[in-house]
Amino acid sequence: MEDFIEQMRNDHREFDKGNLEGYFGNEPFDLFTKWYSDAFISQPEPNAFVLSTAGLNNFPSSRILYLKELLDKKFIFYTNYKSQKGKELHLNPKAGMLFFWPGLQRQVRIEGIVEKVSEEISNDYFKSRPRGSQIGAWASSQSEFLNDRSDLEKNVEKYAKKFPRGVPRPPHWGGYELTPLLIEFWQGRPSRLHDRIIFEWYGNEWKAYRKNP
Ligand SMILES: Cc1cc2nc3c(=O)[nH]c(=O)nc-3n(C[C@H](O)[C@H](O)[C@H](O)COP(=O)(O)O)c2cc1C
Repeated sequence: MEDFIEQMRNDHREFDKGNLEGYFGNEPFDLFTKWYSDAFISQPEPNAFVLSTAGLNNFPSSRILYLKELLDKKFIFYTNYKSQKGKELHLNPKAGMLFFWPGLQRQVRIEGIVEKVSEEISNDYFKSRPRGSQIGAWASSQSEFLNDRSDLEKNVEKYAKKFPRGVPRPPHWGGYELTPLLIEFWQGRPSRLHDRIIFEWYGNEWKAYRKNP
């Protein structure tokens, strides 16, 4: 057997960095904020998460994005509305978000309903981006077939000329907000007896319960 396969099979590392013993809040945002701040000071790419969507064909598709804000208990990220994920969210506005902070042996799984943020919020954020990224948002038809990289570079030149000073936000680029209906906190524990605490939204309140690991 290849060495690395052998190593994968024999890697029985322990999870021993903490626990959620006795933890039951009334709502999940305090704990999310606490875990996020722990990740922020100790983990690479703390705001990177996996976004999973599924369009009409029901095939899930996943990719990494950056969380940009947690506003009014909604998780905000930015992308191209015409991208694959944008099209899928248009057809089916349900999505999963997954954060993994390996050094803390924690994952947070979020499921919810996604909507576009207001134009003002998207405009404000777009303005704060570096010029190169702003031009890129015009130049790249995200997720569309690209015949040759030079076509993309030509597009960059074209929009750099078109917008010599300020770059307006392209109408196809902006934010989404995910309103969570479920948030699961997972803390690794020894012998695979991990802690899982799930907060589920029941229309007017959060209920917390445990699941077997
Ligand atoms: C660390 C990291 C952060 C990323 N952040 C974003 C992001 O915030 N917005 C975005 O549209 N794509 C981001 N991407 C690129 C996406 O993973 C993906 O390739 C792109 O959005 C196209 O996805 P789609 O074709 O499924 O729509 C990021 C990729 C990585 C690896």
